[in-house]
Amino acid sequence: MKAIVQDKYGSAEVLRFEDIDPPEIGDNDVLVHVRAAGVDRGVWHFMTGLPYAGRIASGLRKPKIPVPGMDLAGIVETVGKNVTRFKPGDEVLGIGKFAFAEYARAPEKKLVSKPAVLTFEQAAVVSISGLPALHAVRDEAKVQPGQKVLIIGAAGGVGTYAIQIAKVYGAEVTAVCSTTKMDLVRSIGADHVIDYTREEFADGARHWDVIIDIAGNRSLSHLRRALSPRGTLVIVGGEDGGKWLGLGRPLMASLLSLFTSQRLRMLLPKERLEDIETLKDLAESGKITPVVERTYELSEAAEAIRRIEAGHARGKLVITV
Ligand SMILES: NC(=O)c1ccc[n+]([C@@H]2O[C@H](COP(=O)([O-])OP(=O)(O)OC[C@H]3O[C@@H](n4cnc5c(N)ncnc54)[C@H](OP(=O)(O)O)[C@@H]3O)[C@@H](O)[C@H]2O)c1
Repeated sequence: MKAIVQDKYGSAEVLRFEDIDPPEIGDNDVLVHVRAAGVDRGVWHFMTGLPYAGRIASGLRKPKIPVPGMDLAGIVETVGKNVTRFKPGDEVLGIGKFAFAEYARAPEKKLVSKPAVLTFEQAAVVSISGLPALHAVRDEAKVQPGQKVLIIGAAGGVGTYAIQIAKVYGAEVTAVCSTTKMDLVRSIGADHVIDYTREEFADGARHWDVIIDIAGNRSLSHLRRALSPRGTLVIVGGEDGGKWLGLGRPLMASLLSLFTSQRLRMLLPKERLEDIETLKDLAESGKITPVVERTYELSEAAEAIRRIEAGHARGKLVITV
């Protein structure tokens, strides 16, 4: 099969477009004929092996799995002997391994049926970015109707879901993004928009009940200045957390939370089937719509990852297979 292959960590130059054997599947796995795969920060972390702590899972000297990509949508090719929910020919979306290839391996418990309302390109970007947005809004911030929610990094992969999910929970949403993305965040439900290139949200005059920081480049004290005294800050992702552990700022937030009336929370990745089902249901009912900036051919995967690396994606990037 055609695949993007990497046998060492590094910049996008380590990626090669090659023919390799399809992955083998276990008894609880599904072999998916990939139609589209999502590109996200996690792919960049996997490619570079940064922060180093991540290599404990991905392989100390080189990647244990030679093909990047986790977020996927496609058609079931074969199933392991314990798989009961899917059969060959079913259309699915979810999380697996080897997504940047013609065939990927996914555990049955991380796949759901693809709703007909979504294209494969849209379906391939629901899970990896939708899950942290759902967990931040619903589980960590416990957003209630009428609450004022500030989302920083609102125009990117996670942010475009966070806006829509916060609206589902009845919040009054303020999105922070750069000038060219103001229309986008308004179009998916933001009630107010702050262009961070022209306006400072932490001006001491305005306070939010919930702040979801996805951009990851502001200090805790900066963020807390805009948070109400009993408000909740949720930090998504570990950018700016250093090369080793990658979690400096989120860990500091959890520690500081013990000494203040503000709740300061970090988000740990969770990939539960019921939550992927929830995202699928929200998409099926039209309450959330994946925002796709553009699609790339499989052979152009390196270009897509460079775009993510630059840190200014407009929604999600997709690889079509
Ligand atoms: N399971 C998980 O826990 C999980 C899953 C996915 C992602 N994450 C983490 O979530 C974080 C964001 O991921 P993502 O996929 O949303 O990234 P992304 O798609 O690259 O989006 C980042 C966004 O940040 C915005 N941005 C950059 N500088 C900014 C600034 N100074 N102020 C406000 N916004 C700014 C950019 O918009 P502008 O162009 O407007 O600046 C861009 O849209 C990463 O740390 C990632 O590792 C965690």
